[in-house]
Amino acid sequence: MDHKEGFSEIFNKTLNPFLSTKNNLSEGVFKWWTHLQYERRSFGSYKETVEKVFQMFPQGPELTEPSPDRCRTCAVVGNSGNLNGSHYGPLIDYHDIIIRINKAPTKGYERDVGTRTTHHVMYPVSSSNLDNNTHLVFFPFKTSDLDWLVRSFTPRNQTEKNQRFLAKKDLVMILNPGFIRYVHHVWLKKKGMYPSTGFLTLILSLHMCDKVDVFGFGADRFGNWNHYFEKLKNKRLRTGNHPGNDEFKIIKRLQLQRKIHFYRGW
Ligand code: C5P
Repeated sequence: MDHKEGFSEIFNKTLNPFLSTKNNLSEGVFKWWTHLQYERRSFGSYKETVEKVFQMFPQGPELTEPSPDRCRTCAVVGNSGNLNGSHYGPLIDYHDIIIRINKAPTKGYERDVGTRTTHHVMYPVSSSNLDNNTHLVFFPFKTSDLDWLVRSFTPRNQTEKNQRFLAKKDLVMILNPGFIRYVHHVWLKKKGMYPSTGFLTLILSLHMCDKVDVFGFGADRFGNWNHYFEKLKNKRLRTGNHPGNDEFKIIKRLQLQRKIHFYRGW
């Protein structure tokens, strides 16, 4: 999104961000995706994996378009250190949908980040066990991430048969890798290697919610891109491979256009 473009030119409201057998990748988009993390898998092997995925998990949900007549409120909670001392907890908990990302603990941080989580975004490296009411929103960055998801829910022996895995199977939702490309190309104009998990989540929430409130994004007041749950070790911590500053500019523009409400933290 550059400064000349309006929201409606960028936001594709007909696009379904979730993967399903109907809403699957074309070979061209698959090729783009394999470059993100330099994976050498064929399109055929990807398709076989997707078949296994949907033998195990529900198809991506059909989404209804955001509408001003209805009000599903969402809190998108990033992991910025600017949440520390914010006292946003009760405000975050007040939303219908509360989306957290990667490690994002609540225990011990309730005053600033709240207690409820309806959706938790993860990829293999950032995964943890969720409770029975929380959707696992899985972000695949390569085919082997999808294999990992299937493996993580497959009992290895009799004793594991009744075990509960990362989350309830019925509550697993999988991001369509084509959505990553859409956000990188259309929103970020290909800046950086690819979008951060948090920025993808924010744009995803524009598709899922009628009102989006954003917390925990950007640097803290000293300019560090740290996490609220970690002691800052590296005072020159910036945003790595992701175009954090460009993402932040877009967040500010969305706020100016009143498409989101951005809570800047403390
Ligand atoms: O670091 P991690 O990716 O787990 O954090 C989740 C998301 O929160 C990031 O992808 C980023 O979009 C956002 N974040 C941020 N500023 C920080 C830390 C995280 O905007 N200081």
